[in-house]
Amino acid sequence: MRILVLGGTWFVGRTLVEAITDAGHRVTLFNRGRTAARLPDEAEAVHGDRESVEDLRRLANLGPWDAVIDVAGVVPAAVRDAAKVLAPVTGRYVFVSTVSVYRDWPREAVAEESPLHQGDPDTRPPAWKWGTGVYGPLKAGAEIAVHRELGDERTTILRPGVILGPYEYSGRLTWWLTRAARGGRILAPGEPDRFIRPIDARDLAAFTLHLIVSGVSGAFNVAGPAGRDTFGAMLDACLAATGATGAAVWVDDDWLTANGVKQWTELPLWRTATGTWAIDTTRAEAEGLICRPIRATVRDTWAWMHSGDIPVEHERQATHGIAPDREAALLTAWDLAGHEPAGNA
Ligand SMILES: NC(=O)c1ccc[n+]([C@@H]2O[C@H](COP(=O)([O-])OP(=O)(O)OC[C@H]3O[C@@H](n4cnc5c(N)ncnc54)[C@H](OP(=O)(O)O)[C@@H]3O)[C@@H](O)[C@H]2O)c1
Repeated sequence: MRILVLGGTWFVGRTLVEAITDAGHRVTLFNRGRTAARLPDEAEAVHGDRESVEDLRRLANLGPWDAVIDVAGVVPAAVRDAAKVLAPVTGRYVFVSTVSVYRDWPREAVAEESPLHQGDPDTRPPAWKWGTGVYGPLKAGAEIAVHRELGDERTTILRPGVILGPYEYSGRLTWWLTRAARGGRILAPGEPDRFIRPIDARDLAAFTLHLIVSGVSGAFNVAGPAGRDTFGAMLDACLAATGATGAAVWVDDDWLTANGVKQWTELPLWRTATGTWAIDTTRAEAEGLICRPIRATVRDTWAWMHSGDIPVEHERQATHGIAPDREAALLTAWDLAGHEPAGNA
């Protein structure tokens, strides 16, 4: 097959490009060429700005493709323009969306039929930033735009929860690995046996390619399996991968919250809202989604962090992790409140 990836050099896109070439398909990447990622030799790179309809038309002249994957589109009008220009030169259009499109996530459990944020397919906010609450509504608008330009039969939407793995630039697992490597007493949130369900970008990529090759339309939630991986297993895997001699000190959710620790960011992957990991993935699993265990993701991410590859710099990195002195002060306060000073890992 011949597949066009809009983006393709940071994280999910880069993983997709590798999956496509590994499977023997041909891939074209379209991006501005600002990121010096090591890419497979077979990948054909085309440079341009996706905000420019002129650049998109130039790209369309290089078609046709069996499928286009818009990996990182967020602004609905920009996603719309790409879908409109590329619709005549592609069989299928795949849009990488997010579980954040659900109106009630993370407060409630979500399935593909759950209500979405109200999205406007034609909006183009002049500037938007992470953490401002507009990401979900923008992605919802972008989904509508793709459906409108391509029609339901040629549209495939992926709605992942948290994505981890080599090339991650958000700073979630990479932060926990760095923290584990530092050793000592590690502030660990809640209970070690709390289930978490991140998806490895490589499993997301394999599933995406499978949907393209099989010609499957529709929307799919994508997350790790329910009831398998735990926060404790993730942290143990971080300590094992880094060879550090640290010990997790599991601190009560309510105590952390009362002490102002920010969920999801200061302690990445920690969130107590009921629906956080309650993502119905029955549809994707029935279609063939397979997810590797968290320890494999942790091990390979650590190996990548020491491979000499340069991670993409991104504003999101700065939003993740707790400062060492704040962590130490919280642990002391926890001890003084009458808890086990030696850690309970
Ligand atoms: N991380 C998570 O936990 C998570 C969870 C759920 C969903 N998601 C979704 O997963 C996707 C992650 O995507 P990614 O960032 O890893 O994708 P990616 O395709 O690996 O990287 C983004 C690409 O976009 C290109 N780009 C940026 N601005 C551009 C422009 N104006 N014109 C042309 N190209 C441009 C970048 O290259 P240049 O800079 O060189 O142009 C880069 O190649 C996103 O859709 C995100 O919403 C993520």
